[in-house]
Amino acid sequence: MEIKHIAVIGAGAMGNGIAQVAATSGYRVTLMDVVPAQIEKARAAILQSTTRMVEKGKLTPDQAAAAQAIPTTPSLADTREADLVIEAATENVELKLGLYRELDKLMRPEVIIASNTSSISLTRLGGVTRRAEFIVGMHFFNPVPVMSLLEVVRGLATSESSVATAVEVGRRMGKTPVVVKDSPGFVSNRILCPMINEAVYALDEGVASVVDIDTVMKLGMNHPMGPLTLADFVGLDVMLAVMEVLHRDLGDDKYRPAPLLRRMVDAGFLGKKSGRGFYDYRKA
Ligand code: CAA
Repeated sequence: MEIKHIAVIGAGAMGNGIAQVAATSGYRVTLMDVVPAQIEKARAAILQSTTRMVEKGKLTPDQAAAAQAIPTTPSLADTREADLVIEAATENVELKLGLYRELDKLMRPEVIIASNTSSISLTRLGGVTRRAEFIVGMHFFNPVPVMSLLEVVRGLATSESSVATAVEVGRRMGKTPVVVKDSPGFVSNRILCPMINEAVYALDEGVASVVDIDTVMKLGMNHPMGPLTLADFVGLDVMLAVMEVLHRDLGDDKYRPAPLLRRMVDAGFLGKKSGRGFYDYRKA
C-alpha cells in the first residue's frame, strides 16, 4: 500500500516533531492527542521550529506552511483514514497496550501501526492485536527535525514488508534508518540510558557537580550535551521508564535505576518540560 496519510498519536516533544517532519516531507498528517494543552504546545513548537528552519534555508515556506496547517484532533476515531499510524504516546505499558487494542479495532486491517517507544517491546504491543505482522518500531530522536537516525525495530512477528515500509517512510522523512531486533532498549537506549544513569550515580555519590559531570563528557568525549543536560532534555520520567525496562527485562542489577533519578521523578522534577530537573529552567 502506498503511504500518503500518516496519523501521529501523541503531540508531546516526539509526536509533534514526527508530525512536523512527516508534513514537511510531503505526507498528509493528522496529529492526535487527548490533552488540548498538549496540542497547543505542539502547534507552538512546530511554528517555532519551522520558522527557524525557513530562516536558515532548511525548509521552503510551502513546507513550513504544510507543517503549520497539520490538522489536530482529540479523538482517535478521526485518525481512522490514515495509511500508517506512528504512535508516540506516553511511555507507559498499560496505556500503550490499551491504545493498541483500540487502534487494532479502528484501523483498516492492512494498516501498519509503528511505535516510537523508547523501550517497550514491539512483540508485546503486537501480541495484543490481531495484526502483529504490521506492528513495527519507528524510534525517532529528539529534536526530531535535527536528528538523522531512525531506529527501525523488528518485533518477533513483524513482517519483512512492514520493516521495508518503515525504512522507506523514514528515508523519505530524510532519516537514516537502522534496523534492529526487538530487545530491551534496542541499541540506542541500551547504551545511552545506562551512561546517563551512571552520571546520576556519580552525582549522588558526590564525585562531581552537575556542571562538572556535564563538562567532562562534553569536553572529554565531544558529546554535544552533557549526560545530565541530555536527561533533562529527554525527560527524567522517560529515563526512569527505560531503566526500569532494562533492569526488569534483562534481569541484571547493572541496570538498576539510580535512586536519585527515582526521587527526582517522584518530586515531579522531570527536566526541561517541568521547569526543573538537574538544572533549573524557571529563571531562564
Ligand atoms: N527544530 C529545528 N531546528 C532545531 C531544533 C528544532 N527543534 N533544535 C535545534 N535546531 C537546530 C538549530 O537551529 C541549529 O541549526 P544551525 O546548525 O543551522 O544553526 C542546530 O539545530 C543546533 O542547535 P543550537 O545551535 O540551538 O544548539 P546546539 O548546537 O547545542 O544543538 C542539539 C542542539 C541539536 C539538540 C544538540 O545539543 C544535540 O545534538 N544534543 C544531543 C541530542 C540527543 O542526543 N538526542 C537524542 C536523545 S535520546 C532520544 O531522543 C531517544 C530516546 O528514546 C530517549
